[in-house]
Amino acid sequence: MASPAQTQVPTTPARARIGARTLRTDRWWLSPLLTSVGLGVFVVYATVRSFMRSGYWAAEEHYLTPFYSPCLSTSCVPGSSHFGTPLGELPGFIPLAFLSLPFLLGFRLTCYYYRKAYYRSVWMSPPACAVAEPHGKYTGETRLPLIVQNAHRYFFYAALIITIVNTYDAIVAFQGGFGLGNVILLVNVVLLWCYTVSCHSCRHVTGGRLKHFSKNPVRYRIWTQVSKLNTRHMQFAWITLASLMLTDLYVWLVSTGTIADLRFVN
Ligand code: FES
Repeated sequence: MASPAQTQVPTTPARARIGARTLRTDRWWLSPLLTSVGLGVFVVYATVRSFMRSGYWAAEEHYLTPFYSPCLSTSCVPGSSHFGTPLGELPGFIPLAFLSLPFLLGFRLTCYYYRKAYYRSVWMSPPACAVAEPHGKYTGETRLPLIVQNAHRYFFYAALIITIVNTYDAIVAFQGGFGLGNVILLVNVVLLWCYTVSCHSCRHVTGGRLKHFSKNPVRYRIWTQVSKLNTRHMQFAWITLASLMLTDLYVWLVSTGTIADLRFVN
């Protein structure tokens, strides 16, 4: 029989009491700072552009910016409504793409990568490894508003439809000939596809809940390709923010006559 000394649970030394917020001496704050600046620039640009209601359709070249797609209202300038105008007039304070913007916003906000980015940089929970967070308690994604993060897969389905719409816009733009704007619109939709398909929810849709990959070779193959793209999801998240802004800016400048589109075929 074991003696009392032998059955004693081993104790570990108490955790060190450190008064400082962190003992890190490197520039740990740089990454959250850059992330905040990058996200902030996009949010401000996209908000301003979405409410402007001008410079979104280059009539001669048939370029429509993704920030106004699909344009389903009679308030849209003639030619920009590729799917008709079932919505009638919209008051000036409502963005013309109000049907797609909330879903796109929801898709990005609940994205696994962006969560990591803004939890660290904006919410500071935690700001970096070995740096204490300023919040008193942690409830995770178990209550409002963060419980909405669990709806990411539904935003993924909506984003899939919107990416198809953007692809259609890029294809019908060729009715206006072939110019640099066509290349920009096409590159943008290819990148949007990469971002959308590399989503973690897409990975789950294609290969999740399978017990035997060998019995589902097609889904396994698709899942393998999606998984490869998934390793670059963070890069696609940032690249598409830039490509969306650049595409919009180009259409804006061409549509207002500020610059001329570089034409290859008229
Ligand atoms: Fe990033 Fe789904 S879009 S994880």
